[in-house]
This record gives sequence, C-alpha cells and structure tokens, in this order.
Amino acid sequence: MSISIKSPREIELMRISNHLLCDMHRELEKLVRPGISTMDLDDAAAKFLAHHGVVSNFLNYEGYPANICVSVNDEVVHGIPSRDRILKDGDIVSIDAGCIYKGYHSDAARTHIVGKASPEVQKLVDETRNAFFEAIKVARAGNHVYDISNAVADYISPFGYGIVRELVGHGVGTSLHEDPQIPNYHMERRGPKLQPGMTLAVEPMIALGRGDVVWEEDEWTVVTEDGSPAAHYENTILITDGDPEILSLY
Ligand code: MF3
Ligand code: CO
Repeated sequence: MSISIKSPREIELMRISNHLLCDMHRELEKLVRPGISTMDLDDAAAKFLAHHGVVSNFLNYEGYPANICVSVNDEVVHGIPSRDRILKDGDIVSIDAGCIYKGYHSDAARTHIVGKASPEVQKLVDETRNAFFEAIKVARAGNHVYDISNAVADYISPFGYGIVRELVGHGVGTSLHEDPQIPNYHMERRGPKLQPGMTLAVEPMIALGRGDVVWEEDEWTVVTEDGSPAAHYENTILITDGDPEILSLY
C-alpha cells in the first residue's frame, strides 16, 4: 500500500476542487424540501458543475449513471437519483458528491433532514456528523490511519448505533479512491502512519439499527438489511503539521 503525499501545488488544487464542492453542497442543501425528486438534486448538481467548468467524478465511475449519489432513509450510500423518488417530510437524505478540478478529486457527503424528523432520527444524523469531528481530532501527523477508525467506533458505540462495515473512507487525490482504506469500525492494529500532505476522505456511515447492508437490484444502492435509517457525513481532509485542514468545508 502506498499513500501519496501531495505537494503544495497539488494541495492548492485539492483545496479548489473541494471548495467548489463545498459551495455545491450549500446550493443543493437549499433545494431539499418535501416534493422535490432526487433527480432534481442531480439536475442542480449537473448545472453547478457545468457552470464552474468541472466534472463529476462519480459519473461513469465503474459505470455509475449519475452526477451525485442521493440516498434516502434506509439507503446508506450510492442511491441513484430518480424522477420518481420524491422527498417527503421526515425523510433523511444523504447527498454524496465530488468533482475533478485540473485532475484533482474532491469527495464529501452531507445528510439533510427533509422538514422535521423524529428526535431519534435527528440524533442519528447529528451524532454521525459529530463522529466525523471527533475522529479528525486524531488525524494528525505521527498518529496512524486506524486511530481515526477507532475514534469513530469509540464515539458511536455508546449510542448503540450500527456501524456500516462494508464501505470505508479512503485516500483521495488524482483518483477518487486511493490508499489507504479508512474503516469506521474498531481495528486491532494502528495501520499506516499519518504524514503531512496526505489527503483523506473520512466518512462515517451509521445506521439506527444494525449496520449490516445489502445491495439493491440496481447493483449500486446500498441499504440497511433491517430497513433502519442511516446517515452519512464525509469531508476530504488534509493532514498537516498541526490540526487537519478540512478541505471540503470553509
Ligand atoms: N463518495 C463515494 C465513495 O467514497 C463515491 C461514490 S462513487 C459512485 O464511496 F460511483 F458511486 F458514485
Ligand atoms: Co468517499
């Protein structure tokens, strides 16, 4: 396994790619309300990307057929946008997206609540986001990749939520998925050492029930086996000499 260290020039391109993505997430969030379809979000993403002269890194990735992933309720990740999937009050909707700017990839996901969710579901969404911020406290040079994994697992375990194990965070740079893999579950070893210049997508995927998942017939959409709602929160971060820089938030 070899983890790429980005040069200052590459880091600047990663920053721009991720800032654009952050802006896009802000635009998409404004559209989330009962009555819109998940394809409306994809349409808006396509427009934003074209307007900024960048392309989606999800579109055509291993044959993926849309610009972004939109996953509703028990859909954990990789939901394919559809005109027939209409958001309704109380749904949770995860939007996962990325773009390529001058060859450099960004990757970030947010879970939004449509209207008002039950307190239980609201808490799931909040704690999934909190798990990300807790985990990146240990994302420092000298620590190791699986320290991030263990921090997510340690934060989430007391709530009794299910951690999705079949999908993991990852390095990101000139490809969407680079080494290393970053599980969200407890690891015995500490894994590779973190070094300044590494860019990583840290992405807890957490279910209200068990974390077991199955793939739907479209061969993309990942759903919880028990039908419980799941939340996803992801940012691309840069390992530095000090605190990590969250590239996809500014
Ligand atoms: N952000 C997603 C991930 O890290 C990428 C989805 S690729 C797609 O797994 F093809 F499904 F869009
Ligand atoms: Co990712």
